[in-house]
Amino acid sequence: MRLTDKKILVTGGAGLIGSALAERLLDDNDVVIVDDLSNGIAESVPEAATFVEGDLTDEAVVAEAIDAETDVVFHLAADKYVNADQPREQFETNGEMTYNILERMNEVGVEHIAFTSSSTVYGEAPRPTPEDYAPLEPISEYGAAKLSEEALLSVYGHNYGFRTWNFRFANIVGPRYGAGVVPDFIYKLQQDPESLTIRGNGLQEKSYMTLEDCIDAMCYVVENTDKPVNTYNLGTRTTTSVNRIADIVSDVMGVDPEYEYTGGDRGWSGDVPKMRLSIEKLAALGWEPTVPSDQAVREGAQAILENAENEPHLS
Ligand SMILES: NC(=O)c1ccc[n+]([C@@H]2O[C@H](COP(=O)([O-])OP(=O)(O)OC[C@H]3O[C@@H](n4cnc5c(N)ncnc54)[C@H](O)[C@@H]3O)[C@@H](O)[C@H]2O)c1
Repeated sequence: MRLTDKKILVTGGAGLIGSALAERLLDDNDVVIVDDLSNGIAESVPEAATFVEGDLTDEAVVAEAIDAETDVVFHLAADKYVNADQPREQFETNGEMTYNILERMNEVGVEHIAFTSSSTVYGEAPRPTPEDYAPLEPISEYGAAKLSEEALLSVYGHNYGFRTWNFRFANIVGPRYGAGVVPDFIYKLQQDPESLTIRGNGLQEKSYMTLEDCIDAMCYVVENTDKPVNTYNLGTRTTTSVNRIADIVSDVMGVDPEYEYTGGDRGWSGDVPKMRLSIEKLAALGWEPTVPSDQAVREGAQAILENAENEPHLS
């Protein structure tokens, strides 16, 4: 599907990735954003977008956001915390949003949906992990919800004539505070530049991708694939350890802290300590990341600091 002259719904469009995606799509399309601002901020919503503030577990909100004129839905809204305080609520909320959206789309004849899934659907899998790796055994409720939501998209792809895209993201870094090791280290070092507490043993190792590459890849795949179910890993070929992230962030901030470790091989319950996604399927389609993992971490750290200085309300 060409992403020009379309009416596009971006759910979660006040969040880190959704707001940047909406900005990009607005170049050539009309964009509607729905977000309940539970984790996003109104100032991030691009001015040119139509903004519906509401909770997507509410069917009336979904009905307001999706009508017969909608061409495609980019569904990013989610409670994205892997170690959620209320995992059952997270599982139910994320699933309910996705079901509401699919039902409404079917009701009004909208048949294209791109969904932001996650590397967490693989659990602790051999690396690099390809899309057809099995068995899929997530170790967090967040990952379990993403997997079940992917499965629901598959039903709509195969049984209701939809075109669906599942994007299994690596870690995406962009210019905002929030969840994630990069903003976490920046925040801690702003509080105390002398010491840094690292969760786990620092040897956890994952692949980090810039926001720009992530958005570019999503749009590229939607424009160049057309099966009922199109599942793609989005990541980089390289990884960055947590110790290395601490070094990069310290360097960017011009500090030299002592590292202390909480111990164990992972940061928190449900954390997959080592993750690298195979991106051969993406490469075969003709798309390559432009920024490797270490550089993505560095650029992300720089962007967070610049953003905090220039636009503190967006931090
Ligand atoms: N950032 C990453 O590294 C990463 C990695 C893997 C997958 N993802 C997925 O990508 C998507 C976007 O991630 P992000 O980093 O931009 O997260 P984010 O939290 O910045 O954005 C998600 C947005 O969804 C909104 N939202 C949450 N619940 C809602 C509800 N019930 N109704 C309406 N809006 C609601 C939040 O307010 C927020 O603005 C999420 O689905 C996330 O699970 C992100």
